[in-house]
Amino acid sequence: MKRIGVFTSGGDAPGMNACLRAIVKACRKAEIECIGIFEGYNGLVEGLMSPLDVENTRGIEKRGGTILKTARSAEFLTAEGRARAFENLKQYELDGLIAIGGDGTFKGAVQWMEDYPVPVIGIPGTIDNDLHGTEYTLGFDTAVNNAMNAIDKIMDTAEAHNRLFLVEVMGRDSGHIALNAAVASGAEAVFLPEKKGELKEFFHLLNQRSKEPISHALLAIVAEGNDEGSAYKVASRVRALFPEFDTRVTVLGHVQRGGSPTQRDRVIGARWGVMAVEALVKGQSGFYTGFTGGKYQLVSMEKAAKNAYKMDKGLMHAMDILSE
Ligand code: F6P
Repeated sequence: MKRIGVFTSGGDAPGMNACLRAIVKACRKAEIECIGIFEGYNGLVEGLMSPLDVENTRGIEKRGGTILKTARSAEFLTAEGRARAFENLKQYELDGLIAIGGDGTFKGAVQWMEDYPVPVIGIPGTIDNDLHGTEYTLGFDTAVNNAMNAIDKIMDTAEAHNRLFLVEVMGRDSGHIALNAAVASGAEAVFLPEKKGELKEFFHLLNQRSKEPISHALLAIVAEGNDEGSAYKVASRVRALFPEFDTRVTVLGHVQRGGSPTQRDRVIGARWGVMAVEALVKGQSGFYTGFTGGKYQLVSMEKAAKNAYKMDKGLMHAMDILSE
């Protein structure tokens, strides 16, 4: 193996840059050239590539986003797009690829490997933490901390007015950010995609609270992918039944995805970067790096594509108790 390519794909995640820096250093150690591919799979299809080295990646571990930029490529999903990507790989003489991204990125890689003999190792990079076979994905810790810090601020003003706040957080179809932010922020309720009947439980709670003198704020975290709909939708149902609560909504949005990565995202990013290069050098392909039960390990992409991620049942149970 003489030269490999690396790209970031899907939604950016804090820690991607720390991971890129580690990949560059691991390549140097293995005497491999490292080529950065820009804008995810689009860069493969369009040939947007440029060498990465220790100099042009210096100090990036502390930066959010991704220096390689990212995209969700429609063209790579077509056979024609993948054929163009293969031509570019041949032209740039890339012997292997490292794909940093989420579920969609790895599905693309599995499809790629069916048709083309270029090995791929993945690194989970998504704030949603929604991959099978790993308890962690890069960016999750920073995103939850961003959410928690924003919610702490919201709760200062909520307390001052004894208001009910519904705060919507990201996560696509996964409730990991919502559950962790809810526990960390002392929320009374959380709406998760993985749980049914939360609105009924919430109304029950509000019913009880409405009989008490309202002397403090209330907080509910709403995962964007939950079954009851957006925080605005939940708020309009709450207002209709409980006009006595002064109800407000905040949708946190992309603020959760930005900013300097936490220690955890930098360290796991670095560790996975080294692991990915070493796996390629050993001739492995079709795996992504993972972290489960305190251990770093490789996870089969094909198996992962057929299986769902797991929620932390213990944390869900703790939340049930905290919300009583
Ligand atoms: O997958 C990461 C994520 O931030 C999700 O939590 C969210 O649903 C989605 O991306 C937002 O996508 P975009 O940045 O394209 O609006």
